[in-house]
Amino acid sequence: MNLALIGYGNVGCAFARLLERKRASFPFRICGIHTARHGTAIDRKGLRGDPRFGPAAASIEEFLDAARAEVAIEVTPLNPSTGEPAISHIRAAFARGMHVITANKGPIAHAYHALEEAARAAGVSFRFESTVMDGAPVYSLVRNSLPGCEILGFTGVLNSTTKVVVEALREGLSMEDGIRVAQRLGIAEADASYDIDGWDSAAKACALANVLMDARVTPQMVEPRGIGRLTPERVQALAAQGKTVRVVSRARRTRAGVRLRVRAEVLPFTDLLSSLAGTSNLLLIHTDLMGTVGTVSINPGVEQTAYGLFSDLVDIART
Ligand SMILES: NC(=O)c1ccc[n+]([C@@H]2O[C@H](COP(=O)([O-])OP(=O)(O)OC[C@H]3O[C@@H](n4cnc5c(N)ncnc54)[C@H](OP(=O)(O)O)[C@@H]3O)[C@@H](O)[C@H]2O)c1
Repeated sequence: MNLALIGYGNVGCAFARLLERKRASFPFRICGIHTARHGTAIDRKGLRGDPRFGPAAASIEEFLDAARAEVAIEVTPLNPSTGEPAISHIRAAFARGMHVITANKGPIAHAYHALEEAARAAGVSFRFESTVMDGAPVYSLVRNSLPGCEILGFTGVLNSTTKVVVEALREGLSMEDGIRVAQRLGIAEADASYDIDGWDSAAKACALANVLMDARVTPQMVEPRGIGRLTPERVQALAAQGKTVRVVSRARRTRAGVRLRVRAEVLPFTDLLSSLAGTSNLLLIHTDLMGTVGTVSINPGVEQTAYGLFSDLVDIART
């Protein structure tokens, strides 16, 4: 299958490396890459190694027409306010009969139902496993392993950058130092304030609620509260009491609809939600038939995000 990548940053490059590694068994071919500042690369025979970029295509439509791929991989930065321009990128791909896979939670948080409908009308697949918890099964877990279950809610620690930053504060470093550590790992959002202020967690919570609970929520409706005001002194004082801080995303179904809450919470070290070290994430899904089941990802990095894209791709190729 031929692929067109929209975005070639941390995730796009990790995905290209993964494809190279699995090339013998999975002969997918990247035939176009489009970026904001680095330009556009097109080669129908396949782009490998260090692709040579020419001037940027004038528009996403021009790029997709030139790439003539079967699958578009959308990996541009999160925009928690509108989900754009990724939503338009995805629509342009559907309009050309392309399947779409994205790691960008903005479109799922802002336009999931409309995009799902557009994919159906175009007769193509729309997948987004790595939007939440990187490559760990979340949507596919519910889709494939929880038939007939109603999702009553969920509880998750879904943002790795804030965990890295809290750990840095505990060591006496500044918030900026902590953000730099997360940036070096390639896990921070292009605008790291979206991590710190809870917008990444809010977008993930909305994506989960829209997909798994048939909600119609957007990040602005969540009013997240992140860790922006935390200081090393506060984190160290909490640690002395056996406590720490996690940005926790909670959802529950009520008679009035799906309620979401995204807050930095003080938790004892012994709490399941705070017990995982490093970049590790955790999601507990509360159901009517299966009680609470969860998925855990231990120290995920950008390679696991790339794996989420890859797993979606293999699934589309098979079906
Ligand atoms: N990093 C992670 O661990 C992780 C985990 C899960 C999900 N995600 C999601 O994956 C997506 C990509 O993350 P990332 O870390 O790879 O971001 P990144 O390193 O900032 O890369 C973003 C890429 O998108 C390109 N781009 C920006 N605006 C564009 C536009 N309008 N049209 C075409 N290309 C555009 C950039 O172009 P230039 O190179 O020219 O600047 C860059 O290549 C984000 O939505 C993020 O939320 C990331």
